[in-house]
Amino acid sequence: MSAAEADGLFTRAPFGDDIAVLRARFPREVWPAHRNLGQTARFWLDRHGMFRELGDMLKTGAVEFAEGRVEAKPFMGWLGPRLSLFLNELHTHHHVEDEHYFPVFRAADARLGRGFDILDADHHTLDALIHELAATGNALSEGLRGHGDVARPSADLAERLTRASNGLLRHLEDEEDIVVPLILDRSEGGLGL
Ligand SMILES: [Fe+2]
Ligand SMILES: [Fe+2]
Repeated sequence: MSAAEADGLFTRAPFGDDIAVLRARFPREVWPAHRNLGQTARFWLDRHGMFRELGDMLKTGAVEFAEGRVEAKPFMGWLGPRLSLFLNELHTHHHVEDEHYFPVFRAADARLGRGFDILDADHHTLDALIHELAATGNALSEGLRGHGDVARPSADLAERLTRASNGLLRHLEDEEDIVVPLILDRSEGGLGL
């Protein structure tokens, strides 16, 4: 996958039916009540919900701070634990998908390979952003302690959290659109989850 395609995370359209080949048979409306939506899938969807919510909160908070609408001290007290949680949990989540789940899903249905190639590239794009965000958070914290600039890292934080949150929404939806229909088709036990 080229860098240009990986960057497509921020601009691409949702997966079409040529990539999400099982989605038409298992549209989102049938997921919640489907008997094959097991514990693993429910837990995994809950994690996605948490990332959506936390990403949106962080984006909104960082934009408000960059626009001078909140004080530095309470903002940093609020930001620190939430940003660490978001970055650490997201990194771990990608790692588990890359190492454990994606190989199982790829092996189960070769037609989904193209989608997993794109999702794998998304993980690289998002992991690069995770590292940038950790560095930006540190630079802001240093700046507020009088050891450097504040305006630049606060603008960078808002811009990078906006990119991360928006890119993550695209990634999570596309990922769910190929993974959940596969689980409903085969069942968790059938896939060996
Ligand atoms: Fe993922
Ligand atoms: Fe995921």
